[in-house]
Amino acid sequence: MSTTVSMDTLVSLCKRRGFIYQSSEIYGGLASAWDYGPMGVELKNRVQNFWWREMTQLHDNIVGLDASILMHPRVWEASGHVENFTDPLVDCKKCKQRFRSDQIPEENMSTHKCPECGGELTDPRQFNLMFKTHIGPLESEGSVVFLRPETAQGIYVNFKNVVQTARMRIPFGIAQVGKAFRNEITTKNFIFRTCEFEQMEMQFFIHPSEDEKYFEQWKQARFDFYKRMGIRESRLRFHQHGADELAHYAKIAFDIEYEFPFGWKELEGIHNRTDYDLRRHMEFSKKDLTYLDDLRDGERYVPYVIETSAGLTRTVLTVLADAYEEEEVEGEKRVVMRLHPELAPITVGVFPLVKKDGLAELAREIERDLRHEYATFYDQGGAIGRRYRRQDEIGTPFGITVDYQSKEDRTVTLRYRDSMEQVRVPIPELGETIRRAVREYRRPA
Ligand code: GAP
Repeated sequence: MSTTVSMDTLVSLCKRRGFIYQSSEIYGGLASAWDYGPMGVELKNRVQNFWWREMTQLHDNIVGLDASILMHPRVWEASGHVENFTDPLVDCKKCKQRFRSDQIPEENMSTHKCPECGGELTDPRQFNLMFKTHIGPLESEGSVVFLRPETAQGIYVNFKNVVQTARMRIPFGIAQVGKAFRNEITTKNFIFRTCEFEQMEMQFFIHPSEDEKYFEQWKQARFDFYKRMGIRESRLRFHQHGADELAHYAKIAFDIEYEFPFGWKELEGIHNRTDYDLRRHMEFSKKDLTYLDDLRDGERYVPYVIETSAGLTRTVLTVLADAYEEEEVEGEKRVVMRLHPELAPITVGVFPLVKKDGLAELAREIERDLRHEYATFYDQGGAIGRRYRRQDEIGTPFGITVDYQSKEDRTVTLRYRDSMEQVRVPIPELGETIRRAVREYRRPA
């Protein structure tokens, strides 16, 4: 069964179960900024780890990097962001709201009428999306720095360092996860588009003659990644950028889109950035960023770059929206988050059937043993059915119940979240049984 969750339902579940809270809520909140609660931070870290393993550990030729958010201001001149990273905005003279002119109905633009109050709209002006601040005690022109709007530039400026110190040979990639900031005006749709967000980017450096081959490879590899994470394929598709959509650095670009509750939207971009960024950094820094290829008879060239650029926080939204399902069980509604077991904030819930007669002690012992390998949660409060439901709602894939039989034969009940099937497992075999179930996990159709 497939449920399309409404955003209101998802936002409310995220708040209620400690996934995501509005930023500074006790002060009335800050538009477009969100905090990750105890469940949310676990989920976000697991999504990041899933990506990191896929993009570094599983490749011989991709290494990681963690560059700083603040960079030399010339970086953003070289990258083209100072000049080109703009949105066309219009203001309403009456209600003072600001809109992206390409996101309001054509009719409002042609009549200059505000879509909210009908007041008069100004002509569109280009508005740079980078946040500006100052470094040091003086707020002078010379102290201006930007909060990075993409993590990619930290990779380009370290290209030479990585080649020299990690002895990487083309083709190779550099992967990075980190915060990025954009002064976006869109405040709708929860964590989909925020001013502060996280990106998971990988820049793959190649010989210019091989750009089409590697572009196709990465495009497919990135699509398959989401399937492996348990996202339904029917809600994923490609969208090729038309000439009017291409970023200033891209020769060709495809988005992987997901069908969110508010429609098909970009989840990740795969871009052929050519040698644009490295060339611009050579020009602006006056440093040589060419590569001497001893596997190509000593040819010297500026590498091309295939970029895979995913939003971490946007992937968290995708995972949450995709996992949500409602079903009827014995006349009652069950809400179940069908999260991949490697992403679920808690992997195993451990429950004594009752607190007395030594069952709580045995359950605690099992939980303490498993916590070295899995994220566990011990719960002895309330009817067992309710304890299962609480875990279903946060996506815990396995539940262990300790009952009177456990004391006699050292077996427990292992309950699978998706099928609700319960099997008896000897306590010493729990670790391996869960390990296998995680490895072989398939979401039910
Ligand atoms: N380095 C290339 C780059 O930044 P992008 O298409 O602007 O390309 C890549 O962004 C990804 O970053 C997007 O597909 C999206 O997942 C995420 N992203 C971009 N802006 C975002 C925002 N304001 N809030 C949340 N995620 C965002």
